[in-house]
Amino acid sequence: MCFIKALGPGGRAEMSTHRLKPTVAAAPPPTEQPNVFPLDWPEGDPITHSLFGLAKRESWDPADLPWRDYAETKLSAEERLGIGYWFSLLGIFDAAAPPVFAHALIEMYKHHEEDGVRKCFATILRDELNHEEACRFGTQLSLPGRPVGPLRWEPKTALEKAAHSNIAWGYYNGGRYWNGYVEAHKKYPLQVLFTSFLMGEVAATTLFSQMSREAGHPVFQNLFHHVSKDESRHARMALYLCQRSFPTLSDENKAFVTRQLRAGFIFLSMILFKPFPGKFWELPDGFVDNHLLLQEAAAAGGLGVLSEKKREEAWRSAMLRVKTTIEKFGIEFPAMPEVGISGAEVSVDSLEDGLIPVF
Ligand SMILES: [Fe+2]
Ligand SMILES: [Fe+2]
Repeated sequence: MCFIKALGPGGRAEMSTHRLKPTVAAAPPPTEQPNVFPLDWPEGDPITHSLFGLAKRESWDPADLPWRDYAETKLSAEERLGIGYWFSLLGIFDAAAPPVFAHALIEMYKHHEEDGVRKCFATILRDELNHEEACRFGTQLSLPGRPVGPLRWEPKTALEKAAHSNIAWGYYNGGRYWNGYVEAHKKYPLQVLFTSFLMGEVAATTLFSQMSREAGHPVFQNLFHHVSKDESRHARMALYLCQRSFPTLSDENKAFVTRQLRAGFIFLSMILFKPFPGKFWELPDGFVDNHLLLQEAAAAGGLGVLSEKKREEAWRSAMLRVKTTIEKFGIEFPAMPEVGISGAEVSVDSLEDGLIPVF
């Protein structure tokens, strides 16, 4: 508190504190933990700070890409529909990512995670918002009638009806994923939950960088180039977290990691490899055929979707890199016969039993 002494030059009140004495109060009650307070900046490995700096330097804006040019490009109705379908499905992953990382970020602040890790997670959230925005442009400029959302349009032709139905089923599964993710936070510590993070980031880096080279239209070449750079930064962050937490994992948690990796593969395969219907992805008959037709149309339209053989090779090389990292810590890598990788046989039936891939 201050006292007004007099009006100084220019009419401003001058303050005096000469009558005040400092007081030392009793310490406040301890803050119940976990809590974002008291605020501190626990220093971590330098890599976390350099990745944070890199994220700032590599920032980009999806709105700067030549979307207008894409909107005016001559494509067949099927090709444009295929591209809109593909971005709608990508939205299951990229539109869930901002809340997924926001949730994780809050947990990290509450548990006083290293400052650099928290900062990097905030930039990952920001990156994912960009990816989501790209899904919005890609979807709205491609689906009939430029709808406000991937399901807010009236399908007329047989292929449009197939696309609409597939998107609806995809989004139904996306909702199951989100519920499972929120529940899993109550059951598992963050470092265990985020074990499939590395797998998803490595796969996404590889697949998107190849897509940027295969894409026929500059908007997609540019977009996938930026996305793969983002994902490669995320992969380096994920690798740091794995290397930090794996040496002290219990055997039970190591087994959980193996299952998480398999779950992550099945989860991400939907968009970057091929759909695997089952208990994990609940999909109706005909879904896969519709998907293949639409994906083929998207590829013909210049989206940059890789051939099945190239996707398989890309996954195989990405997964072998992850396998090498994981096995160094005495963690078994799951069998992925779909891409010719042998390993531990694990069953990952459900999104609801805590198997929550993050990428
Ligand atoms: Fe993303
Ligand atoms: Fe990522």
